[in-house]
This record gives sequence, C-alpha cells and structure tokens, in this order.
Amino acid sequence: MTKTEATARVTKLKKEINHHRYLYHVKDTQEISDAALDSLKRELDTLELEYPDLVTSDSPTQRVGGEPLAEFSKVRHRTRMLSLQDAFSVEDLMNWETRNKKVVAQDFSYFVELKIDGVAVALQYQDGVLVRAATRGDGSVGEDVTHNIRTIDAIPLTLREKIPGPVEVRGEVYMLKKEFDALNKEQGKKQAKLYANPRNVVAGSIRQLDPSQVASRPLRFFAWEITAGDGSTTRAAEYKALQDLGFPVPPDAAKLATIKDVAKLIDGEEKKRLKRPFLVDGLVLKIDDLALSERLGVVGKAPRGSIAFKFAAEEATTVVEDIVVQVGRTGTLTPV
Ligand code: IVH
Repeated sequence: MTKTEATARVTKLKKEINHHRYLYHVKDTQEISDAALDSLKRELDTLELEYPDLVTSDSPTQRVGGEPLAEFSKVRHRTRMLSLQDAFSVEDLMNWETRNKKVVAQDFSYFVELKIDGVAVALQYQDGVLVRAATRGDGSVGEDVTHNIRTIDAIPLTLREKIPGPVEVRGEVYMLKKEFDALNKEQGKKQAKLYANPRNVVAGSIRQLDPSQVASRPLRFFAWEITAGDGSTTRAAEYKALQDLGFPVPPDAAKLATIKDVAKLIDGEEKKRLKRPFLVDGLVLKIDDLALSERLGVVGKAPRGSIAFKFAAEEATTVVEDIVVQVGRTGTLTPV
C-alpha cells in the first residue's frame, strides 16, 4: 500500500469507526458485529503503526494514551457549573412555577429529562475536537480529567458536525447497574473491598491518575447541556442538537405543557425507575424556551428556569443468600 492509499484508508477507517460509535451510543443500534468493528480498529492501529505521522489526537486509537499523571491541573469553567434547586412534591413544583411567573408573567412549557445519578463533567471542544474535560469542582474551577474522559467511548473525540470555535457540552458520567454488579463480583472473588454504589466507582475512576486503569472501567455518558454555539432556542432542540453532534442523551425526555402533565409523568417514572439499567434519582424539569429561562436568571448557585424533582431514596426487597467471612492478612474479619 502506498502512503497515499494508506492516508485515504486511515481517513475512511476513522470515519467508519466513528459512525459505528454513534450508532451504538446514540441510536442504540448496531450495523455490524463487535468482531467486525474490532477488526476495523485493528486495521487502523496497524496502519498507524506503519505510518505514525498519520496518527491524530482525535483518532479512535488514541483514547488511551500518555503516562500516568502526578496530579490534576485546575481548569476554570467558561461559565459557572450551577446546581439545581430540589423539589420533593408536586406542590413544590407548583410553587416553583408560581415564583417564576412572578418574575416573568408568561405561560411556560417544560422539557422533562431523567435525572441520572452520576458525576457531572464539562467537555470543551475547539473547532469540533475535544480539547479538555473537567470535573465540576466548586462550580468555578474544576480538575482537568481530559486523559480519563477520552477513554469513554460514548464521548465523541470529534463532533459529527464541525462547529467552528469553542463549544462546551456538559453531562453525566455513569455506569450500568449490571456492570457495577459484575465489578463488585470480581472484587469479592479477589477478596478486595466492595464498592458502595456505581456513583462512587465513577467518581473514583474519573479521578484516577493512570488513564489505563480508567479504560478498563465500563463508564458511560449522557449529555444534558450545550452551553454555546449550536443556536438552539428550546431545550427540545438542544437535546436533538446534542444527538446530532454525537452525544447520547438521557432516554424518554418529554415536552409537557403543564405541571399537571409532569405530575402524571412522575407517577409512571417512579414505577419504571427500578427497571432502568442505570440509577435514576429523579427528574429534571427545564423551562423549554431557552431565552425565557435565561431571563429568569440565577438565584445563588441555581438557575430559576430548571428544578430537580427528587424521587424517594431507592428501596428494594432483597434476599441475603449467603454471608462469607473474609479473613484479612492481619486477621481482620469482614463479613461480605
Ligand atoms: S441539567 C444547572 N439534566 O444533577 C445544572 N442535570 O442535582 C443543570 N443531572 O448538577 C443541570 N441528570 O450534575 C441536568 N438530565 C439532567 C441531569 C442532571 C443528572 C445532575 C447534574 C446536576 C445535578 C443537580
């Protein structure tokens, strides 16, 4: 193969691999088998080994790379990462609406999304390429976790539609319940400490100094916000734009006209929640019109235009099948 042919093939392979990543994570479908996709990745890897100057930082082969870090550097968020005010009842939601109508006397409609129990991250893209990923930190300054976030296959290294200049996407890194259980099973077999919940594993993984450790963890991502550059005027459009750019978004989001409609949705979602493959701790209600939401402003650390409806803490009945007592090296006994 000549260098020209290799260049063309590398470009084609990158495009193909990114397309299948998008289908899997955003569209929930697969056009080719895992084995076929692996073979495309291997072919790319082989060509890049032969022609190292064809390697670019956004190549799918470059998700894991670099030496372990000694520490994280700090990143100042372009705009503050806010949090949400909480509601625990439909009455709280009605009061929230009444307060908002005193600020802007208008009818609102709502965009309602699942509230994913994960860890928030901010992804900065420059001319369509992922250049930095940061934790929330104190909302103004977070930690640079780019090397770890790049290992998450659900996060595109390049946007599917190139937007010139800076774009920031925010969302939640999470883990599937079944993958968390499998991880804990392995820990048990190794007589290692069990993890308390998926969120702890995610938080610990993102803050690992060695990216190769993170790559072995099955981390996933849902985007919930794009802070600049896409031109959407409603949350529903923003949600669609995020998907078009290559991001998975929380499933089953809905546009609803009134808090009464939201109340009906809450009943259904509380029932569905235990069956979901990932942990959901509530719903996020967002005023659909972005300009209106902006006009409502921020109180303290929370925007007025969105609110988190929190479900009651998850409860389930379980049967203890066995209790194994582990004996540690120093003789400590740990019931598992
Ligand atoms: S929108 C102003 N949408 O929940 C922040 N957040 O308790 C806008 N979260 O800080 C957040 N799922 O880390 C939004 N569908 C979703 C979410 C979501 C989970 C997290 C996020 C947020 C926290 C608030």
